[in-house]
Amino acid sequence: MAHILGFGGYVPKRVVTNDDWARLVDTSDEWITQRTGIKERRFAADDETTMTLATEAAVSALKDADLTPDDVDEIVVATDTPEMMTPDTAALVQARLGCRTVPTYDLSGSGCAGFVQALDVAKSRISVEPKNVLVIGVELISRMISLKDRTTAILFGDGAGAVVLGPAPGRAEVLDVVSGTDGSAAEILTLAAGGTRNPFNAASLASGDYNRLVMDGRRVFTEAVRRMSEAATDVLQKIGRSMSEVKLVIPHQANKRIIDAVTKRLCLTEDAVYVNIHNYGNTGSATVPFAMWEAVNTNRIKEGDLVLLTAFGAGFHWAAAAVQF
Ligand code: ACO
Repeated sequence: MAHILGFGGYVPKRVVTNDDWARLVDTSDEWITQRTGIKERRFAADDETTMTLATEAAVSALKDADLTPDDVDEIVVATDTPEMMTPDTAALVQARLGCRTVPTYDLSGSGCAGFVQALDVAKSRISVEPKNVLVIGVELISRMISLKDRTTAILFGDGAGAVVLGPAPGRAEVLDVVSGTDGSAAEILTLAAGGTRNPFNAASLASGDYNRLVMDGRRVFTEAVRRMSEAATDVLQKIGRSMSEVKLVIPHQANKRIIDAVTKRLCLTEDAVYVNIHNYGNTGSATVPFAMWEAVNTNRIKEGDLVLLTAFGAGFHWAAAAVQF
């Protein structure tokens, strides 16, 4: 059995509003609000990195769990914006936290579904051997994509969320997780350069590929609605529960219109779905754990509640988890 022992979250202090964006590129508060629901997002300060954001969220989760870094037996970090290409961000977080020489690894490239996938992996690891696993979703996207491309830049923000997952009874139990991948849809959301297909070099710098996010927004939209809804239904079916028993759904926060479409498809009322995209934009693999942390801390989730997490991301990946508080 895998229990969430503590919740953590962190966002940088610097607020970037839609009006700030309108001063930088040809856009407006009206366009961004209508198409995405986003009003503002946070950008990391110059002295912050992916590792420092992740560590802040981890410290907050450990404090919430009343545990110390010494109690951590494994660390998994889900991120598409790692501190370095090598080594993994999780190793750097381990050192920064002052943990023992416990195993660490990153789940990278799976975009915004990364945290729920990582929860799935961590749950399986605990079923093999009882241990406390720190699971972190973190992105520092503002430093990785072109801030001149209005079609993608306005969507994102920086942030981190974390949970401590362990075998001991805790605040909530992760009942089950489902996940899936359709690699044939990989091309609808990619980073143009940085891998072996198109390495970072003078040519990718000159062409602007080095920080170009290539996205077929309409297809991402359609796939996201379908996959997040299906994953949520599948995980409920797997645990033998019905949607009427669910108190709160926490979907990946990519676009308010995507969330509204999922709400409609699952026949949910608006107050049964957690939304904070207006304040933070899309923080990638951090949206779900950060939203869960926020929901717990604002009493949107109470003891006894059944909560669903559902996410999608580049790959094309999707994953959903049922969590019993
Ligand atoms: N400001 C003003 N105009 C803009 C902007 C902007 N920031 N961006 C694009 N436009 C223009 C386009 O150039 C286009 O102009 P044209 O009609 O003259 O050609 C017009 O607005 C409409 O563009 P569309 O791309 O058709 O707009 P759409 O309604 O599809 O909205 C959006 C775009 C918001 C990206 C939408 O498709 C979407 O949200 N898709 C899902 C994207 C997403 O969630 N990605 C997730 C990223 S990663 C992840 O979470 C897995």
